[in-house]
Amino acid sequence: MLVTLKELVQVAYKSDYAIPAFNIHTYEDAVAIVKGAEEMRSPVILMASPSAIRHLGIRIAACIMNELAENAKVPVVSHLDHATDLDVIFKAMKAGFTSVMFDGSNLPFDENVEKTKLVVKVARAFGISVEAEIGRVGRSEEGEEATQILTEPDVARKFFELTQVDALAVAVGTAHGMQKQEAQIDFERVQQIQSAVDVPLVLHGSSGVPDEDLTKISKMNFGKINIGTVLKTVYVERIRKILQEQPQLKDQIKLLEEASKAVTEMVKHKISLLNSAGRA
Ligand code: G3H
Ligand code: ZN
Repeated sequence: MLVTLKELVQVAYKSDYAIPAFNIHTYEDAVAIVKGAEEMRSPVILMASPSAIRHLGIRIAACIMNELAENAKVPVVSHLDHATDLDVIFKAMKAGFTSVMFDGSNLPFDENVEKTKLVVKVARAFGISVEAEIGRVGRSEEGEEATQILTEPDVARKFFELTQVDALAVAVGTAHGMQKQEAQIDFERVQQIQSAVDVPLVLHGSSGVPDEDLTKISKMNFGKINIGTVLKTVYVERIRKILQEQPQLKDQIKLLEEASKAVTEMVKHKISLLNSAGRA
């Protein structure tokens, strides 16, 4: 069933589990993610990133996610990920997304607050959830580490007081796009943030988080854990393997359906780490 982000994270963030949020890029990986969530009886968040929106378009992305959600045996959120453009956010709301992230992490504090407040005001009118970011998670690619800004607990508190978002993304040591599990989470900072601000927290760049830390963080005040890169990696690796083993294969449906099994397996693994199995 199709649900909002707020209804899922409000329950999860104070409990000993977190809701997995997976980036979708195509129809096939979206199907594979929902399949994994159903097999584990876990709620799940499907996220369309800016690259997915470029590839699919907002309305097709919304159609895919909402159609899968409405037919799913578990609660599913259709979420717009990392939108920096207000126009894109409003189009996503119109297209039927049940949750949006306004990413003002590159903006000065006051501008981030003002734009987030506007998004919250419009979203509330339509019953849509809002996530925003304070601090900056950044990317792990070369030369980009310098852009990471760890979240200051007092700034997070002030930001939440002013915006009243439904979920707050914080930078606590992860980075987007990490290919290995080598992120070093600043758990002391996490403790300070959750003492300063009572809101479901969101962890970005979670492909780079070691398995045991994912479990640890899911028991803290994180309600939503964003995972993208690792799913792309296992999907493409499985395609490569299938083509090597069956060079005569000509049917793209067979290829993609078979490769999608790698996505479902990884989704189930991450769900078990986040302790969200059996919560739906
Ligand atoms: O918003 C998306 C996530 O933060 C995904 O990060 O691709 O590093 O797992 P990741
Ligand atoms: Zn992210």
